[in-house]
Amino acid sequence: MKIVSVVGARPNFVKLAPLHKSLSRYSDHIIIHTGQHYDYEMSDIFFKELQIPRPDINLGVGSTSSGDQIARMIRGVEAELGFGKSEGNGGKGIASKPDLVIVYGDTNSTFAGAFSASVNSIPVAHVEAGLRSFDRRMPEERNRILTDHLSDLLFAPTITASTNLKDEHSAGRIINSGDISVELVNEAWRFSKKSAILKELSLESRSFVLFTMHRAESTGSFSSLKAIVESFQELKKRTHDRSSSSSLMHQKISGIGSSSSTNEQNVHGHQLQIVFPIHPRTEKILKTYGLYDKLVSLENVKIIKPLGYIDFLRLVKESYKVVTDSGGLQKEAYLCSIPCITIRKSTEWVETLRGGWNKLCSFEKDEIVNSILQPRPSTEKNYSKDIFGSGNASEIIRDSIIYGYRK
Ligand code: UD1
Repeated sequence: MKIVSVVGARPNFVKLAPLHKSLSRYSDHIIIHTGQHYDYEMSDIFFKELQIPRPDINLGVGSTSSGDQIARMIRGVEAELGFGKSEGNGGKGIASKPDLVIVYGDTNSTFAGAFSASVNSIPVAHVEAGLRSFDRRMPEERNRILTDHLSDLLFAPTITASTNLKDEHSAGRIINSGDISVELVNEAWRFSKKSAILKELSLESRSFVLFTMHRAESTGSFSSLKAIVESFQELKKRTHDRSSSSSLMHQKISGIGSSSSTNEQNVHGHQLQIVFPIHPRTEKILKTYGLYDKLVSLENVKIIKPLGYIDFLRLVKESYKVVTDSGGLQKEAYLCSIPCITIRKSTEWVETLRGGWNKLCSFEKDEIVNSILQPRPSTEKNYSKDIFGSGNASEIIRDSIIYGYRK
């Protein structure tokens, strides 16, 4: 069986890793990289660390306007599938006329891959199907909806996702595979526990908040970015001012089961740091708005370049809390039992909201600071990794494709 996976951005690569391992033994698995992400830290490092072979074809579309980017991807993928003139570095026909095209998640590369295959009557499988934030302003939401309705096999990571697909009367076959990230996190942790990142950044376990922000809806707004800078400034005031007089100066942060004030003192005792692996787009926009230098000047903020998966996972696991606008990080934090504050109006990972493990928060200084300083969830009563399935999604997906699927 000849299978083509189309990927292009970080969140695609991490989902490809476990499935490639599982599929490559049973099929001819060709990888097309659209080139949506191209920096070493945004692309190559994931292939290297997660032991994914170099893509067979790289279309090199790069960054441009969304419509142009998607159009170039469609033209490129279509050609590689054997239906047009090749413009990338492929053109050797290796991806020509496959039995199936697999796409992952909700990026522009996901939609472009699904569309190119579908218009040429090549069946499509969507890994991470059915997620909905019900916020159509997000490009990812549009990509998800379009991709799901073009796909023949819909691999739903959660029960909610599978219900969404049924509610929308999706034409494809829905398979409750569970989420492929469970395997990814388990596998990557074997390497992450040896990561030297804490030492490199002079960080202690639970003494920092891991912060990421890159989405178009949040980075596009000056007031949102300003609120972030002000929150970190305020956090510095609230944690540093009292820490100097605190008898808890060297006390370890536990936060679990403690009252709010005790928790705050514990946090103060550790002079909570913010660690911010910065996405290239966010860096550019912060500089344009004149906020970058202000952020860099805050002594409680460490801005670092984007990290590979191994170091990043270690930071997630050792953090006090995670603050993010990312989709994938919400569930990675959950899988690591780290409370997450999601600076968005909605989430597609609704199950993670139970028990306070994930909390939606607006771009408002006090709300962000208070959410960070709030105690961590006090019991594990409402916590269950089962929300993401049994941890064998790659096998379920592989078996459905290889044995259960007929053209
Ligand atoms: C994309 C996905 C998003 C995902 C994110 C992970 C879409 C619509 N969004 O967003 O769901 O969470 O990837 O990072 O597909 N840039 C570089 N170097 C790179 C890549 C990007 O400098 O290697 C800069 C460019 O200025 C570019 C900007 O980042 O214009 C945005 O990149 P783009 O690929 O459009 O989307 P992401 O924001 O990364």
